[in-house]
Amino acid sequence: MMLLTGGLGYIGSHTAVELLDNDQDVVIVDNLSNSQIDVKDKIQKITGKSIKFYEGDVRDADLMDKIFSENKIDTVIHFAGFKAVGESTKIPIEYYKNNIDSTLVLLEAMKKHNVKNLVFSSSATVYGKAKSMPIFEDFPLSASNPYGRTKLFIEEILKDVHAADPSFNIAILRYFNPVGAHESGIIGENPNGIPNNLMPYITRVATKKLDLLHVFGNDYETHDGTGVRDYIHVCDLAHGHLKAAQKLENNPGLVVYNLGTGTGYSVLDMVKAFESSCKVSVPYVIDERRPGDIDTCFASPEKAEKELGFKATRTLEDMCKSSFNFEVNNK
Ligand code: NAD
Ligand code: UD1
Repeated sequence: MMLLTGGLGYIGSHTAVELLDNDQDVVIVDNLSNSQIDVKDKIQKITGKSIKFYEGDVRDADLMDKIFSENKIDTVIHFAGFKAVGESTKIPIEYYKNNIDSTLVLLEAMKKHNVKNLVFSSSATVYGKAKSMPIFEDFPLSASNPYGRTKLFIEEILKDVHAADPSFNIAILRYFNPVGAHESGIIGENPNGIPNNLMPYITRVATKKLDLLHVFGNDYETHDGTGVRDYIHVCDLAHGHLKAAQKLENNPGLVVYNLGTGTGYSVLDMVKAFESSCKVSVPYVIDERRPGDIDTCFASPEKAEKELGFKATRTLEDMCKSSFNFEVNNK
């Protein structure tokens, strides 16, 4: 049985579907700080299977004790946390408290209940401004904002925990840019307010909820001057978690994998792909660079392919169409 912290969120919900589709039993704990309770029913509707759900905070040690006592959990996937870079610069204490404390409480509960397999949601943000592309897992790490530092610190904590107890198996997954939605159009990414990230902003312009996309800079060192990123379909990403959880069954110790496609697309590539895949127009203006952004960021997906047998298969068209489908379905 697998425990998903933050399992009603964007990536957690798609991973829950992937695990249930592969006959895994799933328990979710989520405090609904950035998700809705109806996602639970939606996961069950898509899969035709039931999940056990606890509403509450991972930082609540008594609750975690109860969850581990009531369920035979062998693997935990730890998604719970805050994730908005801009917000993290304004309320850093909340970010450190939520992201780091939740991990510590979870690790204590795992230790107490002798659960030794953990998959952790890290981010490509831990590579900072990488020296070259593609990015390999052994590149130097750095962070330039509180959110990124929470990921970096948690990675260090996990390394210490594994060093102290080598029977702990930990997969640190560094996600590149997750986009897209489940093909059913039932679950997807549904940020509150004005989206910070590119794809949800595009879908809102395409559905006329927002007027114009603001392209943050066209003077980067890239093929068309706009920022290049490695967009990965969230259902591929979800499959990566299944593969990582399976890897942990063979006692690999602490392992680190990029989850990306290895291909970079610019902001304007994304706009064009969206327009042609979804037959809609996405009007845009070129704006100032967003502070803290880098030119280019894309993964080497080789290690995950070699060691996990994981390869992203969905196309850019799949990413655009499924994002649009979810936005239209969830008016
Ligand atoms: P999300 O906000 O949609 O999901 C996180 C879930 O965790 C939410 O349902 C929220 O209610 C819950 N949560 C937060 N704090 C909690 C707590 N203390 N106790 C219980 N539940 C709590 O985010 P997501 O996009 O699904 O991201 C999942 C993880 O992946 C996060 O750790 C995030 O930092 C990481 N990540 C995300 C991206 C991305 O682009 N989405 C990229 C890299 C890494
Ligand atoms: C952001 C986070 C990063 C996180 C990642 C995945 C920042 C600075 N970084 O990365 O920590 O791991 O999301 O969730 O927030 N863009 C526009 N207009 C927009 C929005 C974005 O032009 O309205 C551009 C950006 O400048 C960038 C690209 O689109 O070149 C992708 O942006 P975004 O989706 O926010 O992701 P990242 O910045 O890569």
